[in-house]
Amino acid sequence: MCGIFGCILKDEAAAPWIHQALKRLEYRGYDSVGEATIYEGRLYIKKDSGKIDEVHKIHNLDSLPGNIGIGHTRWATHGAPLEVNAHPHLDCEGQIAVVHNGIIENFTELKIELENKGHLFKSRTDTEVIAHLIEETLKKNPSFGIADAVLESVRKLEGSYAIAVISPRESNKIVCARHESPLVLGLGENAVYCASDIPAFLPLTNKAVIVEDGELVNLSLEGFEIKKISDSSIVKREPKIIDWTPEMAIKQGYKHFMLKEIHEQPKCLRNTLRLQEHYLDLMATFLDRAREVFLVACGTSYHACLAASYMFSKLAFLATYPVIASEFIEQHGKSVNIDSTILAVSQSGETADTLAAVHAARQRAATVLGLTNVIGSTLTRVSRVYIGQQSGPEIGVAATKTFTSQLSVLAQLALRLAKKRGKVSQDEMDFMEDKLKEMPDIVETVITNQEEKVKLIAKKYKDAEVFFFLGRGISTATAYEGRLKLMEIAYVPAIAFPAGESKHGPISLVQQGFPVIFICPKDETHRTVIGNIMEMKARGGTIIAIIEEGDEEIKKLADEYVEVPKGVPDILSPIPFVIPLQLLAYYMAVERGYNPDMPRNLAKSVTVK
Ligand code: AGP
Repeated sequence: MCGIFGCILKDEAAAPWIHQALKRLEYRGYDSVGEATIYEGRLYIKKDSGKIDEVHKIHNLDSLPGNIGIGHTRWATHGAPLEVNAHPHLDCEGQIAVVHNGIIENFTELKIELENKGHLFKSRTDTEVIAHLIEETLKKNPSFGIADAVLESVRKLEGSYAIAVISPRESNKIVCARHESPLVLGLGENAVYCASDIPAFLPLTNKAVIVEDGELVNLSLEGFEIKKISDSSIVKREPKIIDWTPEMAIKQGYKHFMLKEIHEQPKCLRNTLRLQEHYLDLMATFLDRAREVFLVACGTSYHACLAASYMFSKLAFLATYPVIASEFIEQHGKSVNIDSTILAVSQSGETADTLAAVHAARQRAATVLGLTNVIGSTLTRVSRVYIGQQSGPEIGVAATKTFTSQLSVLAQLALRLAKKRGKVSQDEMDFMEDKLKEMPDIVETVITNQEEKVKLIAKKYKDAEVFFFLGRGISTATAYEGRLKLMEIAYVPAIAFPAGESKHGPISLVQQGFPVIFICPKDETHRTVIGNIMEMKARGGTIIAIIEEGDEEIKKLADEYVEVPKGVPDILSPIPFVIPLQLLAYYMAVERGYNPDMPRNLAKSVTVK
């Protein structure tokens, strides 16, 4: 997730406005920043890695001349957060400047094609191909205007994008376009804006036009023209008046960041399906060769590792050891060696316990692989190979979207490995890949259809003193994660166990009305889970079941149930089955009068200007 902004002002310099707008978009990304303006027929650019204030201190972003410009605040997906990879990106002649939010999936193919035609690339980003594509289109079609060239070029892109393009060839306009990344226009007095998000221009105007997927916009002080990218037809759209406060706008109307991030999951999951195959392959090769594989992480990331151990075992027949990072050194520090591989999973890439485990493993010559959300983090620097999980910045303290993204990446990795090891047939592989592609829609369905129901459950059980979470097989990881969320933000003591283990002690806690949450996908564990439900019911437990749609057997036994669409294979089930648990934790916190974004002892600070 990055933030893009562009503006054209009648009487004022654009740069200070871009700078301020980027500050308001900083929550979308903050590892690099850049601006480009046009003045007297020339492009002017300033960009660097670092936070906006740091870059401004060194380069004085406000000093760029001209009344038209674009800007970008970056959350790296392709290419490390270095000056050369910061946006805007230019074509060979320095005549076209582009800022982009999204992921271009076919950039490697396009780059090779363009390099063969003589284009010289400077960065390692996917974005730079867009500038060169536009240049190439203009070269081939000298009569084209910038908007025509952008239109023709974006038709060749696969993946997601919101872009803003300027060129001194037509220094009075910004051309922008979107596909699966957000883009809005702002219409002010003597000024027009385009941005990733409304907060960027909200203090300047509340008159906005939402650009839809597959649309291109020609923006100038005279107004805006929207075209469909597919057939160039003109789209008519009236501006809307936005009555949000800046605080509301930054949360896109959601009451809390946690809820916003829960709702962002379908989009994040779509992004995880755009990973560069090359890195998945490379990582699968390392895993394949390892004598022993440890999956090391803390908290939610550890739960992703636990789920992954089932994926690797079931799909690729590879035994892996999930280890809580703070235990790694005591447990394995002496035995780990050159034949060991550590796959460290950390959203932030900076968690001290995870890095300490990685450090210890490296000292004993083990291979370190990383999965993280923050490219440029310490984990990316110390890993032999790393994958960026593409979830965008996490503002809520409770990990939600980053968990399901990690699961999706780990499932893709397990599939790759299975293929490499010849453990799955092509049919199975195709089936699983199709199912993975369905995950964003399935998660969307769960949120849309079940949120109200979960809200009611939270209301009903808000005063419960303790909760029990049970699951079998891979659902054990889902149960642990549900428990962590509830404890972390709603301060409800909770316990979680593999359901089979509950009768070896924990069951003695159960008495009349004790809420027990069962995770019940219709997989091989379903029969035994029913047995466990019966055990709990016999002791007076109140059963809240997360079930597959139409699971009549469990519906009859449960006091409450929440449904997930049918047909999700067991190894992917934590992705949709955890959603009701995230929502439950959120609404329990709200019901109990707590701010889910600010759990005590853990809060990250969020500034909204
Ligand atoms: C979960 O909601 C937490 N925020 C926490 O458990 C977190 O997952 C843990 O601290 C690990 O963080 P990391 O993924 O950034 O390493």
